[in-house]
Amino acid sequence: MKRRDFLTSAAAFVVAGGGSTWARGAFAAETPLRLQMPPLIDTRASGRLAMTAQAGSSGFLGGPAVPTIGYSQAYLGPTVIMQNGPLAAEIGNTLGEPVSVHWHGMKIAGNHDGGPHQPVLPGSFWKPEMQVNQDPATIWYHSHIHERTAQQVYNGLAGVIHLTDGRDDDRGLPSAYGVDDLTLVLQDRSFDRAGRLVYDPSMMDRMHGFHGNRMLINGQSGAVAAVPKGIVRLRLLNGSNARVYNLFFSDGRPIHLVATDGGFLPQPVALKVFQLAPGERAEILVDFSSAVAPVLMSDPGQAYGVLEFALDETLSARITSLPDKIESPLEELTGLDTQTRRISMDMGMGMMMGGGGFAINGNPFDMDRIDFNVALGSVERWIVSSSMVAHPFHVHGVQFRVLSEDGSPPRPENSGWKDTVLVPGETEILARFEHPASKETPFMFHCHILEHEDAGMMGQFTVS
Ligand code: C2O
Ligand code: CU
Ligand code: CU
Repeated sequence: MKRRDFLTSAAAFVVAGGGSTWARGAFAAETPLRLQMPPLIDTRASGRLAMTAQAGSSGFLGGPAVPTIGYSQAYLGPTVIMQNGPLAAEIGNTLGEPVSVHWHGMKIAGNHDGGPHQPVLPGSFWKPEMQVNQDPATIWYHSHIHERTAQQVYNGLAGVIHLTDGRDDDRGLPSAYGVDDLTLVLQDRSFDRAGRLVYDPSMMDRMHGFHGNRMLINGQSGAVAAVPKGIVRLRLLNGSNARVYNLFFSDGRPIHLVATDGGFLPQPVALKVFQLAPGERAEILVDFSSAVAPVLMSDPGQAYGVLEFALDETLSARITSLPDKIESPLEELTGLDTQTRRISMDMGMGMMMGGGGFAINGNPFDMDRIDFNVALGSVERWIVSSSMVAHPFHVHGVQFRVLSEDGSPPRPENSGWKDTVLVPGETEILARFEHPASKETPFMFHCHILEHEDAGMMGQFTVS
């Protein structure tokens, strides 16, 4: 069974990888590949962003090159740096199928959202002129064509955004891209014996979401992340179709959570393990000043390796101590809500019979049905529930706060601004809807297990 291979090879990986210190040059010849960051596009000076969805080919695991897709490259897309203000994007598509660029986590109007109603047809362009106006955060973008999102994201149509206000030095945060500020796209992918990337979801995969047998980080397998001996910032994106990670370090060192999906926490929160569901981002600080570098692992109890680190003493550690404060306290939305909605993510009986059954409040997604309208500027409380398995719930156009999880206060991972939250049972969220969305380009709300989303666990709302 593929899954067992994955765990077996992961165990070997840990034994081989645990705690190596490599000096300068050690990366050159016989040692594993050094992890590369996605290329950068800095839009701050120009206020412009041009990207093209294109076909390419990528070799993984030393296997043959296979067809993949990406934004302006063969697999995945560049890391886009942006700041608040106008941003004119120009998205091209040289593929033979419609794609889109959805700005997951951006608080922008529906007509710029890039969801299923805004396909970029083959050979054409989409040119949204956005007004970026939100707190600094690690955001992401991906294709969002209904019934094709899972396949397209799997094959590479996703990338990371750094929204910055240029004040990371004041906050005492590392910010040198690829040196002490690493962007890590976590994806599990499935490979056949010849090392070819495969996506062939079975009935079970459709039910539980597709799980791969190998980890790719930034599209690379088995690469080692070089870090300086000091405090390093890791910006993690769970870009997997369905896998939930419970991340920890092999030597148990603390993880200092500093940001959730929508921005910074007031101060770092020390954790041993933290959860990252599909679509979620987290920024963490890790102290690499000790003599050995640990392995980033997932799922205590059934642990497997995610990413190996190695110290590189030629890299300068600009930050050597943890900041005790990052931001002023978060604005609270508690008590401001004027409307309550119940939203249940359903896996109904139909699915057991081989049919659909993926729905929200009993209704499978329909491009032509608007589920409700939210008053522009209002705060709403949504009581979101899951059936059968925990579903990661995502809302477009907002950042929300988690009010409660199964009646308890939110866990640290969910204590800041969020746009995606794993809902094991019943989770209450509060959101202020600050951006309009018309019935032509409504906002989506959906499960971020991409197989569930494509199968109909998605709805849409307008804001006016
Ligand atoms: Cu990450 Cu509706 O999207
Ligand atoms: Cu989104
Ligand atoms: Cu789901």
